[in-house]
Amino acid sequence: MDKALLEATAAALVKPGKGILAADESNGTMTKRLEGVGIESSEEARRAYRANLFATPGCESAVSGVILYDETIRQTMDDGTLIPEYLNSRGIFPGIKVDTGTVEMSGCPGEVVTKGIDAEPENGWSNLDTRCKEYFEMGARFAKWRAVIKIDTTSGSSKPSMDCLTDNARALANYALICQQQGLVPIIEPEVLMEGAHDANTCAEVTSEILRQTFEECRKVGVHNPGALLKPNMVISGKDSNEQNSREHVAISTVECLTESVPHDVGGVVFLSGGQSDEEATDHLNRMNAMAVEHPWQLSYSYGRALQAAALEAWANEGAEASQVAFAHRAKMNSLARSGDWDISLE
Ligand code: 13P
Repeated sequence: MDKALLEATAAALVKPGKGILAADESNGTMTKRLEGVGIESSEEARRAYRANLFATPGCESAVSGVILYDETIRQTMDDGTLIPEYLNSRGIFPGIKVDTGTVEMSGCPGEVVTKGIDAEPENGWSNLDTRCKEYFEMGARFAKWRAVIKIDTTSGSSKPSMDCLTDNARALANYALICQQQGLVPIIEPEVLMEGAHDANTCAEVTSEILRQTFEECRKVGVHNPGALLKPNMVISGKDSNEQNSREHVAISTVECLTESVPHDVGGVVFLSGGQSDEEATDHLNRMNAMAVEHPWQLSYSYGRALQAAALEAWANEGAEASQVAFAHRAKMNSLARSGDWDISLE
């Protein structure tokens, strides 16, 4: 394992003022997003929208890396340049989603575990080790794997189960080690979903437990923490809860939860937006970075929807340039939030 390379990549990805654009929606998810704004999805429709986003003038000042999907890493910009080569030429690291989705857990109805370590010939996937080698050769320098944790405490249900947390924690650790052995910085993403009516305390407990288990598994298999990034959810009430905490409270409890549950030598923290509004996701990050307390890590972003929603809407309704303007604006707002310098008046 080339620890120096991994540490340098991780540090560059969370350089002050910068964060990650998550543009790694699977074809199924991207189809939903495009259809949501009235565009028919096709390989070319997905390429054209994303190539335009990546070509946004100046975005490299706020974007250190872009997470791509397998289809996109093989596609080209409008002028025929391969997308990973183009991103590299702008000083932006190409990253790659390497999980292959989720499967229902036997014995835990309604719960899922993320897969992608073993080959899936029926779906055209080689094993993770082989795919990491290939992606590295194509220019990728980091990877992402997302575990999905649902909370459901209604009508006698008690999700997540301990098995769901443990199996996902193990898979995250095994993935992270394989990536590191191939020179890719793993983004470790255990996402506790916002869907549900749970309160913020329940979110904090579940988040803390999955983080604790994940890093315990990472320790057991020998993941090099400084060469890995964590992509967590914020500590936030379920969308259907009628007890919503203030933004300041969300920021404080998120930092507290992470500081207690995450090893302090991890290479950096890049939050997901998880269904928050664009402005909420920016404000929460800004508040965390504006706090007087010193954090053990850089606190940054790896937003999908919160960086792309406005750009996608503009792509559908106003065209290419308007989409780039919308993306550049959100990227700038989140870049300012990296140092606590964002303000609502800038919106
Ligand atoms: P959201 O910011 O839309 O939650 O997406 C981030 C991501 O990459 C989820 O895996």
